[in-house]
Amino acid sequence: MFMFNHFRVNFVSCIHNTLCCLAVLPCRLATGSSFMATSVLIAAVVGGGVLLLMRRLFPRQKAAQLLRYPAGTMRGKTVIVTGANSGIGKALAGELLKLHARVIMACRDLRSAEDAAQDMKRQAGPEQGEVVIKHLDLASLRSVKKFCEEVNKEESRVDVLVNNAGIYQCPYTKTEDGFEMQLGVNHLGHFLLTHLLLDLLKVSAPSRIVVVSSKLYKYGHISFNDLNSEGKYNKAFCYSQSKLANLLFTLELARQLEGTGVTVNALTPGIVRTKLGRHVQIPLLAKPLFHLASLVFFKSPLEGAQTPLYLACSTEVEGMSGKCFANCEEEELTADATDEQAAKKLWDTSRRMVGLANQPGASSAGT
Ligand SMILES: NC(=O)c1ccc[n+]([C@@H]2O[C@H](COP(=O)([O-])OP(=O)(O)OC[C@H]3O[C@@H](n4cnc5c(N)ncnc54)[C@H](OP(=O)(O)O)[C@@H]3O)[C@@H](O)[C@H]2O)c1
Repeated sequence: MFMFNHFRVNFVSCIHNTLCCLAVLPCRLATGSSFMATSVLIAAVVGGGVLLLMRRLFPRQKAAQLLRYPAGTMRGKTVIVTGANSGIGKALAGELLKLHARVIMACRDLRSAEDAAQDMKRQAGPEQGEVVIKHLDLASLRSVKKFCEEVNKEESRVDVLVNNAGIYQCPYTKTEDGFEMQLGVNHLGHFLLTHLLLDLLKVSAPSRIVVVSSKLYKYGHISFNDLNSEGKYNKAFCYSQSKLANLLFTLELARQLEGTGVTVNALTPGIVRTKLGRHVQIPLLAKPLFHLASLVFFKSPLEGAQTPLYLACSTEVEGMSGKCFANCEEEELTADATDEQAAKKLWDTSRRMVGLANQPGASSAGT
């Protein structure tokens, strides 16, 4: 489940206040019926206040309604979803299966992927697409290369690539290749993956790349002097940095892919009830309340999957590229996320980091 620092203090104190008020109520009720009306009134005011506060903390989280595409919309199309065994990725893969896509689940845990695939197939009904499970560990460039070699050999086309997998606020660790884990998985692994699948995406044009970012990009910047955060590690900042990198990657890739028939768009899914927050410690007493609040105020994985589904399937976004969406609508980004110079610099730096810079004929993603 996903949490973030900037509202946690407010959230926990608001829950604490509510608990205090509720604890006081029975004493008041015992002292006379005139207190009863007062107590009920106080409870209503406090409860209403908490609800209003939560609405402010989790603004417009719920998707208005679920998308409904005709069955068969994705028939004949192959879609790769990274991290398709859990959360948003699993919900998205399930929806694509219902629309008759050939879904390649790119996952690091094959057993979990197998379980997820069984669930998805059960829920997709008698008429459905096809599921292929493939191993992909984005924390290993070797694994990314192996995955792409297999896909390039076995698949005749890839119509949509969804860069969804992600890791959030983990303790400081490094990937197999020595990158800070959040930047390595959320940005660099997907960077190489996308590059190595570009030829196949181009021959499958019109084709699409969908990048799952987060609104928390706003709290990051790209630390070009210490991209692997070796000097100082702030786990919240590093997540935001990696999600800003997703947006800058989308910007520069869109520019380079102009005229190829391959489009790339990003999205921010909102706050979604998934396992993303597995590394975040919640105080024991706050856990049940947080769980309750997440049920009421967070999006379900299916709701969180609506915008990537829209970007993968909708005819409304045909030909659009380099944009970011939230709740299936174009979203305005901050200046940091639309900085073309930073996007180019990050592109060149990332190419060097994943070992693409010295490859002949591979200086860009263009035609
Ligand atoms: N949930 C939210 O509120 C929220 C908000 C904004 C953005 N997002 C973004 O949404 C995306 C999906 O997250 P989620 O919320 O659905 O969380 P989730 O349930 O934790 O799913 C994350 C997926 O990424 C996979 N993954 C992690 N590290 C990987 C690696 N090294 N190689 C391959 N796969 C890896 C996970 O695999 P395992 O199951 O094996 O760990 C899992 O399948 C992420 O990019 C996240 O940043 C989520």
